[in-house]
Amino acid sequence: MSHADHHFVIAIDGPAASGKSSTAKLVAERLGIHHADSGALYRAATLARTGRSGVPESWNAGSIVHEARRIALVRSGTSFEITLSGKPVSEELHEPAITALVSMVAKMEPVRAWVNDRMWECAADGPIVVDGRDMGTAVFPKAQLKIFLIAKAEERARRRLLQRLGRMPMEAEIDAETHALRQRDVKDAEQTRQADDAVVIDTTHLTQDEQVDRIVDLARQVKSDV
Ligand code: CDP
Repeated sequence: MSHADHHFVIAIDGPAASGKSSTAKLVAERLGIHHADSGALYRAATLARTGRSGVPESWNAGSIVHEARRIALVRSGTSFEITLSGKPVSEELHEPAITALVSMVAKMEPVRAWVNDRMWECAADGPIVVDGRDMGTAVFPKAQLKIFLIAKAEERARRRLLQRLGRMPMEAEIDAETHALRQRDVKDAEQTRQADDAVVIDTTHLTQDEQVDRIVDLARQVKSDV
């Protein structure tokens, strides 16, 4: 299977905490099609390796891909639940220890190949919304609709903290999170690609409903029967 022969694909890319995954999930629900999150797979591969021997500096791609064989994607509504050795791990994927290591793991080509294979498998079954950093370029260059989500770093930090803390964050917390997000943007710069034919949506001043509506409208313009 390759990217050449897939069904209808909506590819949503963008920098850290730009709202890709939550938006992609809602767009998929609205259209009644599947959603697969490539970032969650990079996080799951990192988590799988974390439980085994050796300090992160000594990890090699072979041992990460080996441990990643314990990961499965289990259909759950329009999403895929990620399990590790049969146990659901969605909650653990966003722990700070995983976020701190995932960019390093995602730079390894064999890991990228493993994630891309999983994404192509997900797309083989039917129409899908995929999200990540390189969905509309390296992984699904023929996607029928490509979106690149951007937002001011401070706003991305505010949203991520609101989600994590369940309350309005304080100024000092927003400053620290903005710094952390900017650092991750730098680490991920190499693998973050905006496709030439992507529609750029700046969500700084949009509500989540507004950005979902915009993408659903674009999807219906491209393919009237979704
Ligand atoms: O949601 P957030 O922006 O925090 O990150 P994510 O989508 O969960 O992705 C976690 C990490 O995986 C990113 O920081 C990248 O290092 C990596 N990633 C990637 O390299 N390529 C992708 N297509 C998706 C994620």
